Amino acid sequence: MDITISPVRNIQGRLHVPGDKSISHRAALIGALARGDTLIDNFLRAEDCLSTLSCLRALGVAIEDDGSRVIVHGVGPHWRAPASPLDAGNSGTTMRLLAGILAGQPFEAELTGDASLRNRPMDRIVEPLSQMGARIAALGDGRFPPLRITGGPLRGISYTLPVASAQVKSAVLLAGLFARGETTVVEPTLTRDHTERMLAWFGAQVHRQPGRVSVTPGGLRGRELAVPGDISSAAFVLTAVAARPGSEVIVEGVGLNPTRTGVLDVLRAMGADVAVLNPTVRCGEPVADVVVRGRSLRGVRIAGEMIPRVIDELPVLCMAAALAGGDTVIADASELRVKESDRIGVMARGLRALGVQVVERPDGMIITGGRLRGGRVASTGDHRIAMAFAVAGLLADGPVTVEGAESLAISFPEFERVLQEVGH
Ligand code: S3P
Repeated sequence: MDITISPVRNIQGRLHVPGDKSISHRAALIGALARGDTLIDNFLRAEDCLSTLSCLRALGVAIEDDGSRVIVHGVGPHWRAPASPLDAGNSGTTMRLLAGILAGQPFEAELTGDASLRNRPMDRIVEPLSQMGARIAALGDGRFPPLRITGGPLRGISYTLPVASAQVKSAVLLAGLFARGETTVVEPTLTRDHTERMLAWFGAQVHRQPGRVSVTPGGLRGRELAVPGDISSAAFVLTAVAARPGSEVIVEGVGLNPTRTGVLDVLRAMGADVAVLNPTVRCGEPVADVVVRGRSLRGVRIAGEMIPRVIDELPVLCMAAALAGGDTVIADASELRVKESDRIGVMARGLRALGVQVVERPDGMIITGGRLRGGRVASTGDHRIAMAFAVAGLLADGPVTVEGAESLAISFPEFERVLQEVGH
């Protein structure tokens, strides 16, 4: 499916964005491991999180959706062997977090996914889960899915993350719920900490110190929880607003976990006016309303410890960079090459198709800002690339056609409607 987005003069409005994808996955998975019911408000009903629900159902977990809440009837730590391979679709979070849980189950299971997911590295979880005692094979060349996992008795380990990945950290911590002794993950660079927060919310024994987190097995109890709006989805609208002087939008009820708010810091550094109103904490996660007012932006450097805090927002930040004065340098972001697509290569090609000067580097790119022309770009089936170039359409000097935009349903099915509501 192609979509064509036409330029707007102004972006204005007050809106909500759908529930946080990372938190929705974890609420369902951890709710399933708990005893008793977990009632999840504002669960993200998009393809990635629906993949998690369908895998859980295949593992014997009953899940209902009454239209307002998703109800997970937790079965405790021991699940049923699946009758056929589990399909994680496009979702790396589903595959990697579920692998951590399957490592502790006394049966064999296979996890597979779509063509994009079957190209994503899994050695990063095979290594620590094998150290813990699981038998786990990456059937694609020893590195890629499908994964065949034979779980069993695990032992706690202390594992230092070789890549800054919350999915790897979470896989090890979830496996730690089944291990003898304590399991510790040491992270040289801080990544999103939703798993730690949610395990604690469900009553697990979680011990946190700067740069390290430990878990021991223990009884999880079903809970009620409300998922905040996804800052990664809000980022598309907020970045469009930031880059269009005179625009102003308020997004209500957004999750502002400090491991995720890099996009707000980068937009501020570029010169946008960003304010946070009504901060509160819900179910262990910070939540607030975010107001952004557009300004003329300037190029910045995005690198180092900032990268994990903006990893999913870099595609849309490239659009702000394309309109900013001067150069924007993105460095230390080679992880972008192993996301749903090679996001460095795909962004560089798409930006050039819209007339932007880009130098591609192994770990990032340099974007020389100026203007964005209308044109046609390939999203290669990657939801965040499709939405980033749709934002380019709002800001360019002519319409932008995005090929392969059905992927919007992966994380933000209402995206087009939201753009129509705020664009004037
Ligand atoms: C996620 C972690 C990040 C992020 C992804 C969601 C999570 O991936 O890019 O969209 O929910 O844990 P990595 O762990 O590969 O960095």
